[in-house]
Amino acid sequence: MPGPDPSAGDSVAQNPLTRLTLADLRRRTSVKWRMHPPDVLPLWVAEMDVPLAPAVADALRHAIDLGDTGYAHGTAYAEALGDFAADRWEWHDFRVDRTTVVADVMTGIVEVLRLVTDPGDAVVVCSPVYPPFYAFVSHADRRVIEAPLGPDLRMDVAALDEAFRRARTYGRRPAFLLCNPHNPTGVVHRRDELEAVAEAAGRHGVRVISDEIHAPLVLSGARFTPYLTVAGAENAFALISASKAWNLAGLKAALAVAGPRAAADLSRMPEEVSHGPSHLGVIAHTAAFRAGGPWLDLVLDGLDANRTALETLLAQHAPAIRYHRPEGTYLAWLDCTALGIDSGRPTGEPGVASDIAGPAKMFLDRARVVLSSGHVFGTGGAGFVRLNFATSPAILTDAVTRMGRAVETHHASAG
Ligand SMILES: Cc1ncc(COP(=O)(O)O)c(C=O)c1O
Repeated sequence: MPGPDPSAGDSVAQNPLTRLTLADLRRRTSVKWRMHPPDVLPLWVAEMDVPLAPAVADALRHAIDLGDTGYAHGTAYAEALGDFAADRWEWHDFRVDRTTVVADVMTGIVEVLRLVTDPGDAVVVCSPVYPPFYAFVSHADRRVIEAPLGPDLRMDVAALDEAFRRARTYGRRPAFLLCNPHNPTGVVHRRDELEAVAEAAGRHGVRVISDEIHAPLVLSGARFTPYLTVAGAENAFALISASKAWNLAGLKAALAVAGPRAAADLSRMPEEVSHGPSHLGVIAHTAAFRAGGPWLDLVLDGLDANRTALETLLAQHAPAIRYHRPEGTYLAWLDCTALGIDSGRPTGEPGVASDIAGPAKMFLDRARVVLSSGHVFGTGGAGFVRLNFATSPAILTDAVTRMGRAVETHHASAG
């Protein structure tokens, strides 16, 4: 059974991704570990296989010991993010008075959409993209318009321009839901790309909402550019949270941040929205941004090593799968089209993150490895799977070895 890496030396031993055994992880009750039976290795939903960062655990323990479990108050979360953003991203004009605490990033996105769009208005997304972008936007009675990524998996500004033009024909107040870094491809948008987005959005009167939940998870070789630091983005919003980088999805809290020309809109956010985040969530997220940097750096080193290990493992066990090395996140977007597996749902039905078809179904059935199925990420997703590599090298190795055997048996039975 996979456990901590037996060859672990001092530096590897500090890697938070090698600290928990499979047996430890199977005691968890979160969706990653409970959605599928215990013979299945879960490399799907965006949870990390790490213990809590000590700074976060200490802050929570302190709150529990005090019985400090009332309602959240104050701006400590925004202040901690502001200092982190200045330090890591050179975002020096971050303003605490242009932020609001919300329950989580998706709730924040919907609430910002309610401020700057009307029911029936269009919301542009770059597909393939995080499935809840479809589900939450349509549930909020807005219409999703896709601007597919280019063949290099980067934003296609011409496609965006065209989607912005179409978006205007559907309603008065269109928006663009940007994902930076991009889930599922792990692309980190460059400043020049973001400037081109801001220029096109300005020309078409489209408001930009930038989901930057994965921003702290940018790996060596790339650099994160906060959208609100880009020229032309003054009337945009960003949604930021410690949830992905410190694995705090169960401790609800996130921040909506407004650019200078969006502050008046943000001030119209109804007071009741601020009742969503939990006080323990705010405490945990604040501690993460304030004191969780050194732990995050260990995670980033571990993810960087896994990013390379995954490339080697796939080349060895499943060379027909194409791997686009991600620049950020802990998600790998794997092109399985060469496996010749029917996508199972050719027209796609984006939005339901747990729905499984095509190659993901084959890997679940034959390898007992659960990955996210590409078709739920919208146009361009069918035939792909998304693999979460925020796990131990041992589990990653076991999973890819099983996947390689599954491809072989699939081909043997098909041929
Ligand atoms: C791009 C993106 N946005 C939002 C979320 C969900 O964030 P939250 O739980 O804060 O709503 C995720 C979770 O994986 C994500 O990848």
